Amino acid sequence: MYNYTHIQSSGVTDAKKEITMKKIIAMMLALMLVMTGIAVFTSCENDTPEETTTEAPTTEEATTEAPAPAVIKMATNAYFQPYEFYDGDQIVGIDAEIAAAIAEKLGMTLEIVDMEFDSIITAVNEGSVDFGMAGMTVTEDRQKEVDFSISYANGVQSIIVKEGSSITCADDLYAEGASYKVGVQLGTTGDIYATGDFGAENVTTYSNGNEAVLALLGGDVDCVIIDNEPAKALVAANKGLNILETAYANEDYAICVKKGNSELLAKIDQAIKDLTADGTIDAIIAKYIK
Ligand code: ARG
Repeated sequence: MYNYTHIQSSGVTDAKKEITMKKIIAMMLALMLVMTGIAVFTSCENDTPEETTTEAPTTEEATTEAPAPAVIKMATNAYFQPYEFYDGDQIVGIDAEIAAAIAEKLGMTLEIVDMEFDSIITAVNEGSVDFGMAGMTVTEDRQKEVDFSISYANGVQSIIVKEGSSITCADDLYAEGASYKVGVQLGTTGDIYATGDFGAENVTTYSNGNEAVLALLGGDVDCVIIDNEPAKALVAANKGLNILETAYANEDYAICVKKGNSELLAKIDQAIKDLTADGTIDAIIAKYIK
């Protein structure tokens, strides 16, 4: 159409016009043939069942074909700085950023759902979310309930005490005749280990680390056992607290998916590998942990 009008306005002869029209028609026919060919070719491809069911769309296809990318939901407990915490009404942090990078690799939009830490595994298994990411430690018991990705970070369980506390190292908690009250976040490894080591009667559980620290400041508990980086953030935000030098346990953090969801797990593992190889994960961690 455009070519034809252009030729007309430049005053070419009718004979030339006719030749040009013929060329255009010929080209259009050729184009139609090629397109039919493609259609036949693709429909033949689609006839192979394995290909349509097993072939996952590449990121490129997903972003160019779908104007609104599918949503992938992550469960977390956003009171765990620097892994997940609120900046205004936004959940930010190491996990939030790594998850966003993973979602991007999958061609999906990340949605973060904040909940109690000990609800995350249930939410993942019920399918109300696609995965859980919350500075979550891989433990044998949890591995019976959910499947874990490869690890993307390490954690250490630390002990927070009030300045001048008679607890000066982890061993003091186990000393002959010692009977200290320990504060923890409900359902965390700190809770699990402390309950195992000191008995449930000596452990008080709180909804998050901040509440546990307030209880420590108020004298309700003698120490708080929590992951090292959140411990540092809590000590920085509250006066009169110390982190003991001796760590309580070393751990690996990973993402959990519903047991048996090997398709999503494989994609997440691949994304973690790629984001580790290209330095993205290190850069995100370095942004939050100085
Ligand atoms: N690493 C510990 C665990 O897995 C504590 C994690 C707490 N995470 C959180 N977002 N509150 O049990």
